[in-house]
Amino acid sequence: MNRRALLLLAAALAAVVAMVAVVVVWQGSDGDGAGPAGRTTSTPPASAAPSTSAALVGTPGEPGVGDPYFPGLGNSGYDVDHYTLDLTWRADEGVLDGVTTIEASATQDLARFNLDLSGMKVRAVTVGGSAAEVEREDRELVITPASVIPEGEAFTTTITYSGRPEPVSEGTTLFDVGWQTDGREAFVVSEPSGAATFFPVNDHPTDKATYTFRVTAPADQVVAANGLLASKDDIGHGTTSWTYEARDPMASYLVQIAIGDYELVDAGEVDGVVVRHAFHRRVAAAARVTTEGTADMIRLLGDVYGPYPFEAYGVLAVDENLGFALETQTLTLIGTSTARQGRNADIILLHELAHQWVGNAVSPASWMDIWLNEGFATYTEWLYAERTGGPAAADMARAFEGVGELDLPAGDPGAEELFSSTVYTRGGMTLQALRERVGDEDFFLILRTWVDEHRDGAASTTDFIALAERVSGEELGELFEAWLYADRLPSLD
Ligand code: TRP
Ligand code: ZN
Repeated sequence: MNRRALLLLAAALAAVVAMVAVVVVWQGSDGDGAGPAGRTTSTPPASAAPSTSAALVGTPGEPGVGDPYFPGLGNSGYDVDHYTLDLTWRADEGVLDGVTTIEASATQDLARFNLDLSGMKVRAVTVGGSAAEVEREDRELVITPASVIPEGEAFTTTITYSGRPEPVSEGTTLFDVGWQTDGREAFVVSEPSGAATFFPVNDHPTDKATYTFRVTAPADQVVAANGLLASKDDIGHGTTSWTYEARDPMASYLVQIAIGDYELVDAGEVDGVVVRHAFHRRVAAAARVTTEGTADMIRLLGDVYGPYPFEAYGVLAVDENLGFALETQTLTLIGTSTARQGRNADIILLHELAHQWVGNAVSPASWMDIWLNEGFATYTEWLYAERTGGPAAADMARAFEGVGELDLPAGDPGAEELFSSTVYTRGGMTLQALRERVGDEDFFLILRTWVDEHRDGAASTTDFIALAERVSGEELGELFEAWLYADRLPSLD
């Protein structure tokens, strides 16, 4: 684990959290609420946003699906339906043995195709049961099947591999992402590009799939993963095999697999959603208290965004002082300091829960659209304050007026600034500006429709602007241009 980078990120995120805390303290709860700002409507062009990524199209056999920030991520020519990850974790050696089975269909005739894989030694590849040729080119696996796969055909690829997974840096992320281990436990921190450190994958949120995880680990270890536990078998030699099924389509950066000394906690059901957690034994007692608000939060966000979008939810508390949290699908990752914060962690947990709707059910069509994740989750924090006796979102947003670092465009921050404060805070302020322009009724209808129309898929900023204009009947190009793309932070006045 790269601890220096980790601390930097922790400090950056803590600063954001601290600012929000300050706002809560000094704004009190008597703000005068949000409302239409009474701005006059000129007639700007409908689509002022740069057309980012409504449909990224690459070329099969070329590295990358055409993401403007991460050109190497993802591949084209096929669409993955389901991954089966068969993993054996040899904890004492830090070695992972894997067989990944990928069920996909060809979106055009495929003489060859790519997968993303970083490190690991590939031992064999089959396509449709026959041996296929494989070459390594940097972080790409180039696979040539024995015969061309015709457009529209479903095909199954198996990759047998092994090695010590090494986290990767894009040169642009603060943090080396991927499989993390300190020799005692292992878990995953992938956003945006770490999934390929532990399995061959079409590593871009535009290609979601369902997953089966079959993880073999020492019998004294517990495995947790996205979705629900389907079976657990003692397979001899002091090892146990755990099978998890994640039935909701998922972007690869949201995969979670954790192996350690966890307590699996059944926390009942909320409106048909299974709530279950995995707490490392060293923080389990504290984490129970810290996560007590989960059911209420699921209900509250259900009111904002519509029904919780997945089969399950819960928190994975690992035995590592992370200083950040990550919204891995159906199973949010937190570290020891958060697990020990009690109800002071509510706002962090609320943020990660919000991502299950905005980011996970509706994923960014390109990494340039990251404000659709982080700006929305930040705005949801402000809504939560507003709905639980705290300051109005309008006041929370105004507390950031004039902050210099928000002069960076939230809608195109650059890959190096993917998770900088502008993406979170100016992104959130953008939604407040929209709310004041279209009024509460249309604003909340836009939020619910956004999730309803794009769940299980990926959507772009252009899609969001089009939806906001359709629901409100207003031309909003100028508003989004100023809030997302101008060099200076606008004022809410
Ligand atoms: N998505 C995380 C959040 O909820 C932040 C994040 C993005 C992150 N990439 C990460 C955290 C990599 C740790 C490591 O704000
Ligand atoms: Zn977030």
